[in-house]
Amino acid sequence: MSHEVVEKNVGLLVILVVIVISFGGLAEIVPLYFMKDTTQPVEGLKPYTALQLEGRDIYIREACNACHSQMIRPFRAETERYGHYSVAGEFVYDHPFLWGSKRTGPDLARVGGRYSDDWHIAHLINPRDVVPESNMPTFGFLADNKLTGEDTAAKMKALKTLGVPYTEADIAGAADAVKGKTEMKALVAYLQNLGTAVSIR
Ligand code: HEC
Repeated sequence: MSHEVVEKNVGLLVILVVIVISFGGLAEIVPLYFMKDTTQPVEGLKPYTALQLEGRDIYIREACNACHSQMIRPFRAETERYGHYSVAGEFVYDHPFLWGSKRTGPDLARVGGRYSDDWHIAHLINPRDVVPESNMPTFGFLADNKLTGEDTAAKMKALKTLGVPYTEADIAGAADAVKGKTEMKALVAYLQNLGTAVSIR
């Protein structure tokens, strides 16, 4: 009987459906805030250095994440190609995270250490020089742009308020660590660090 009442009353049905879905969502999401696996950094995870942090901002500015994901899913086809699947604790210092879902190019979650710096530079200047069939755009201009470092410390301070454990010394030395370096160098420093915190690779 009561079932019939719900079925015949669309408004009531909508309200009840929303209540059911909210409880389902809460049961799935709330525990994630309390589980160590999802809230604590993996052992060995370090905050980005000043140069890597600038590199990451260039990565975002150039929309590399529009073509590259940074999350290896736990499927055999992925782990054989890219390495150990990604775990939540690798991303606790990432604000915002760059997991993505669009893969015009390969996943980059563990690209750190896979190629030499020279390979990356050659690849960014002209991807076709090292991967003839590549359709990745060229980013050679990054080698001409120099960083000033004027807002690096401010960025680190902001991240610190979000829980990234930068020390006063990190922040004080930030500008000097990046000043005069090229955007290319910063981006490569960022790429070479990706996925390296986890020893199982
Ligand atoms: C329009 C899509 C697109 C954009 C934007 C793009 N890429 Fe790529 N990228 C690709 C494709 C396709 C490949 C595979 C072919 C190759 O290696 O060049 C690739 C390959 C790579 C590789 C080699 C990965 C591997 O495991 O072999 C790296 C590193 C990389 N891209 C970094 C970047 C960075 C850094 C940026 C931003 C500055 C960027 N890409 C922007 C499409 C893109």
